[in-house]
Amino acid sequence: MDTEPRNKQLGDLDPARIPAHVGIIMDGNGRWAQARGLSRSAGHRAGTENLRRVLQAAGEYGVRILTLYAFSTENWTRPRPEVLALMVLARTALAREIDELDRRGVQIRIIGRREALDATLRQALAAAEERTRANRALTVNIALNYGGRADIVDAVRALIASGVRPEDVDEEAIGRHLSTEGQPDPDLIIRTAGEMRLSNFLLWQAAYAEFYATPILWPDFGPEDLYQALLAYQARRRRFGGLDKPA
Ligand code: IPE
Ligand code: IPE
Ligand code: MG
Repeated sequence: MDTEPRNKQLGDLDPARIPAHVGIIMDGNGRWAQARGLSRSAGHRAGTENLRRVLQAAGEYGVRILTLYAFSTENWTRPRPEVLALMVLARTALAREIDELDRRGVQIRIIGRREALDATLRQALAAAEERTRANRALTVNIALNYGGRADIVDAVRALIASGVRPEDVDEEAIGRHLSTEGQPDPDLIIRTAGEMRLSNFLLWQAAYAEFYATPILWPDFGPEDLYQALLAYQARRRRFGGLDKPA
């Protein structure tokens, strides 16, 4: 793949209109496993293994920032063994992939409340962030113990702690205190496994994101499916509350 010219990889996509920031709600691991008579944890493992090819494809299509919803603030309500399996997977997948990610110029950034994660995982996440800080090819935000509401609450807390005056609180100030500080809002949010909801993902940042849902379960979602999502995105008209430009 690396040797193919960019325009061949892009096919019908307009390289000038690739969404800079894509968020993915990686849903359907459980259903994928159930359909095969496997444990839910086996589904999560397959979902984690699927990340490699999707990350690579996203970079090749020219996406600059990819935000992956890995674990929500509500996912703690799942059975303890499943939660544990997800946490172990996060650590082992990072350990396995970090060299390759770093080599390919991927910058890792964790968004979410990391205080609640166990110390070994927190350490691995911090080390991955530190090691890849200067990488510029693709930024991958891993949303771990992430909730859009928690993100806003934390931003408000930080603002108050900074001693800001009420009249200085505006959208820009809130944006500067969110976990995605310094990054453009997502242009496109993809959800796999057919559900049509945000499930507390990037609530503030997704104000004008295009939403794309596919019935494909996350472990089956491949580069070609990402391509289809980008094509669908390019067929949308984003108005941001205004009017279409006259033809
Ligand atoms: C998504 O798959 C992974 C996480 C939420 C951590 P699910 O585990 O939600 O899969 P389904 O929705 O039960 O199929
Ligand atoms: C959203 O999926 C969270 C992640 C993909 C990490 P869920 O499976 O938790 O969402 P709901 O419960 O169906 O809304
Ligand atoms: Mg689900």
